[in-house]
Amino acid sequence: MTRLQNDDFLRALRKEAVTRTPIWLMRQAGRYLPEYCASRKRAGDFLSLCKSPDLATEVTLQPLARYDLDAAILFSDILTVPDAMGLGLYFESGEGPRFLRPLREEADIAALTAPDPSVSLRYVMDAVSSTVRALNRSVPLIGFSGSPWTLACYMVEGGGSKDFRQIKTMLYARPDLLHRILAVTSEAVIAYLNAQIESGVQAVMLFDTWGGVLSTAAYREFSLAYMARILAALHRTWAGETIPAIVFTKGGGLWLEDVARSGCDGVGLDWSVDLGEARRRVGSHVALQGNLDPYVLFAPPDVIEREARATLASFYHSEIQGESGNSRTGLIFNLGHGISQFTPPEHVHALIETVHGYPLPE
Ligand code: CP3
Repeated sequence: MTRLQNDDFLRALRKEAVTRTPIWLMRQAGRYLPEYCASRKRAGDFLSLCKSPDLATEVTLQPLARYDLDAAILFSDILTVPDAMGLGLYFESGEGPRFLRPLREEADIAALTAPDPSVSLRYVMDAVSSTVRALNRSVPLIGFSGSPWTLACYMVEGGGSKDFRQIKTMLYARPDLLHRILAVTSEAVIAYLNAQIESGVQAVMLFDTWGGVLSTAAYREFSLAYMARILAALHRTWAGETIPAIVFTKGGGLWLEDVARSGCDGVGLDWSVDLGEARRRVGSHVALQGNLDPYVLFAPPDVIEREARATLASFYHSEIQGESGNSRTGLIFNLGHGISQFTPPEHVHALIETVHGYPLPE
């Protein structure tokens, strides 16, 4: 396979030397970009955009045309998997995702099966192949899935939730039902991510957006255990390349050591964690990805620069006991969660320039 022009993202994940700190942004292709809004308008709505490989390719490339980013992320949504499982995904304008048929009845749960991604998620694989072609080996393409727990939250609640009442009732009253949902969903995620790898993604990421609402014991049993099962079943090399995996549990700062031992190569962090402390805790096992508060981007450029430098300094000037030689790598800069739709697009330049210009320690 010919080399990528810029593989700093993959090198940082493998803890190999990098030329500069790589950066990409969660939700980098999204509504803060006017060109994204124009493409979505042409598609009609968000789901049609996801389901059109040509338009999905187009919007994936938009942030890379504007900014010097070190990775692209597949344009899709985590909820395409439950949609393919028959739950009927739709988006109510301004209200977020909803399912026509939430999963609550025992009989529906017993009947749940993992879809064949080469059939019902064919459009995602077509978007991957088309995007890989369009990227033309400039930067790597990240594939992704929701974690089984996070997908189950939407499947059982029927949409977003503030209190997770339905799924937590199931967790405590009928854990057998929830375990069945999580087992089938894990099977679906394994097939889905392996199909993305076969179609050309060069790294994968599990978004565990709602892991942080669980108790420590419940997080281990209902979220992390299933992510570990997935990580153990993924293709870890494909076409002669290693395929690294990142796990991002939002609100998971308490459980970093557990996440780092799950079988992943990188741990995504939200802004509540100090990067230097995180590195001292787990930095010899895994790379770290994060973790600027996305709302820093609402401040003027000099503040963005100051905050980004503080984040970088915390990582690079932390000491890891017993470790030498790789203090210059292992960080992928990102936001601590998705970029807000209200972000001024011109502010993103200040962030990327600061990260790329930051001197790696001697
Ligand atoms: O990062 C990227 O640029 C890739 C694309 C991507 C999207 N969703 C596009 C999207 C990724 C990686 C996701 C993941 C996703 N989707 C997550 C996990 C990450 C996270 O944000 O916590 C979750 C929980 C979802 C479910 C989802 N999809 C919600 C809750 C919403 C509505 C929230 C909102 O911002 O309105 C979506 C819609 C969605 N997914 C949009 C985009 C660009 C906005 C839809 C639009 O254009 O109207």
